Amino acid sequence: MSIESSPKINESSGITEVDFGSEIADIRKTGIDPNFWYPVARSKDLKLGKTLAVTFSGDPIVLVRPKNGEAFALENRCAHRQVPLDIGKVAGCTLKCGYHGWVYDAQGKCISIPYLDSSKTKRNQVRHYPSREAYGLFFIFPGDPEKMEDAMFPNLPSADNPKYKTRYLNRKVDCHYTFMHENLMDMNHQFLHRKLMGGIKTMFLGMREGKNWFEADYTFTRASGSQPLGEKFMLGDRPKAAAGERDLMTIRTEYPYQTLKFWTAGSKEPALDLWNIYVPIDKDNKKNHTFGLMMIKRPKMGFLLDMFWPFIIWFTNGIFAEDRVICELEQKAFDENDCDSNNEVFPAIKGLRKVLIENGIR
Ligand code: FES
Ligand SMILES: [Fe+2]
Repeated sequence: MSIESSPKINESSGITEVDFGSEIADIRKTGIDPNFWYPVARSKDLKLGKTLAVTFSGDPIVLVRPKNGEAFALENRCAHRQVPLDIGKVAGCTLKCGYHGWVYDAQGKCISIPYLDSSKTKRNQVRHYPSREAYGLFFIFPGDPEKMEDAMFPNLPSADNPKYKTRYLNRKVDCHYTFMHENLMDMNHQFLHRKLMGGIKTMFLGMREGKNWFEADYTFTRASGSQPLGEKFMLGDRPKAAAGERDLMTIRTEYPYQTLKFWTAGSKEPALDLWNIYVPIDKDNKKNHTFGLMMIKRPKMGFLLDMFWPFIIWFTNGIFAEDRVICELEQKAFDENDCDSNNEVFPAIKGLRKVLIENGIR
């Protein structure tokens, strides 16, 4: 569709919509913009001399790691009879289809058909995806190669900072990627985590927005129960805070990525620095592969973080499990109606939805 007028939040109905004048965009039918760098696997899961099948929004992709030479990513569909190439064989710096043995180079060009002379191979090519490995993740650029130069590669300084220890998130969740953004941005859902977190009161401090980003600030107080050990270990040393200083959490969606930073009162560096991306798996974008780096600042006695790591894993797994269940239930409810009927009331989520729709593909 073409955008005929400047999008705005429609406040007249109970449903939060972005109104493009001629058409109301449905956030759950909004595709992700492919013109960004997306991780599709943990680097460690692509073994030497092997292939790994992944998908991006329904597109089959094969990752290949030659024993000598750079890893590469191709369309996972042989140009001959369309079978997946990941069942093939890595031979030197090439990939040999598992059926008739057509040979593809790292650019996706068929360079040999074993039973024909080489002049007959020329027209055969599979799509090549630019790829990069960083932060323990295998990234591809699934968009228009001409736009690659303009796409900022994620910059995660805490990932290389020895003051931080990283926990990787790598899980598939059966919901549209926008549910994930909303779930993290909306800190008013602490009630969901009441068994693990106890009684937490969320205070919304404000929000800011730009064309391709939205962020919200929060602080928290404890209304009942005691602080869970996993959270206590995660937040580490608490510096002496001046009167009036309080903990601050800033959650930011800078399309298409999302971050969460948590500063304990009086600290200069975040105790928790989280980076997430929710990569659509299927064509309808009803499933996503969540990749994340949860970077936790080491306390003064750094070894304590290693010692308490199992508590942190247990605690964060519990929180993620609850978030996964609720997001999948949201997707199920959407599927039953086949339209977004959410009655959103929170301005931060309305603003976030606007960014996700405006920057997505309709
Ligand atoms: S199907 Fe791949 S070589 Fe024939
Ligand atoms: Fe949550």
